[in-house]
Amino acid sequence: MDKAQQDALKKAAGIEAAKLIQNGMIAGLGTGSTVRFLVDELGRRVKEEGLEFTGVTTSRRTQEQAEGYGIKIVNIDDVDHIDVTIDGADEVDKNFNGIKGGGAALLWEKIVATNSNKIVWIVDESKVVDTIGKFPLPVEVIPFGAGQVVKKFEAKYRLARVGGEPVRTDENNYVVDLHLERIDHPQELAQDLITTVGVVEHGLFLNMVDQVIVGDPNGPRVMDNPNK
Ligand code: 5RP
Repeated sequence: MDKAQQDALKKAAGIEAAKLIQNGMIAGLGTGSTVRFLVDELGRRVKEEGLEFTGVTTSRRTQEQAEGYGIKIVNIDDVDHIDVTIDGADEVDKNFNGIKGGGAALLWEKIVATNSNKIVWIVDESKVVDTIGKFPLPVEVIPFGAGQVVKKFEAKYRLARVGGEPVRTDENNYVVDLHLERIDHPQELAQDLITTVGVVEHGLFLNMVDQVIVGDPNGPRVMDNPNK
């Protein structure tokens, strides 16, 4: 699949997911290129249909885009609930275990997700996999002692494409990526990561998502998590 085809599938999933947002809702808005299509569609609905909702964003990038459309964005600590969060993902398997953080927003994404009544992911079909792990697993680490975490997990610092400096998250931390090819025991790995001092959060989102909307050449299809 080339990039144009992939973008078309991402866009279709984003447009489909935008239908979930109704007047008066508080919605979590994720991060990434698929979410950009979602926010474009929500912006269109705000303008053309008078949709009114409040957003909580998972990155400054998404906040800027949403505010550009006149969508009201508030701090996560200023809401008492989030009705639904719609986010992208890098991979998801049939057990609804996924990898996120390709856009370095995993920490805020996990905080918003765990405070949401419902979590929906929007992906193109190439991200639905048998076993997660081919996509390098992002881990957010405190800069001090980051080299020790890198050594322990044989990870690689994520470097900016321009300039080659370590990528900084919205919390000013580093992201390191674990090139594992496959993750057969995600729970154990998640436990090992989160109990390592210096690790702030990891990109394993295990059985958290309620619904995945998959951009498919035949039209968006919905996968509901039976365990939720
Ligand atoms: C950002 C994320 C993204 O949701 C994930 O990387 C998917 O991105 P895209 O929609 O651009 O493929 O987790 O941290």
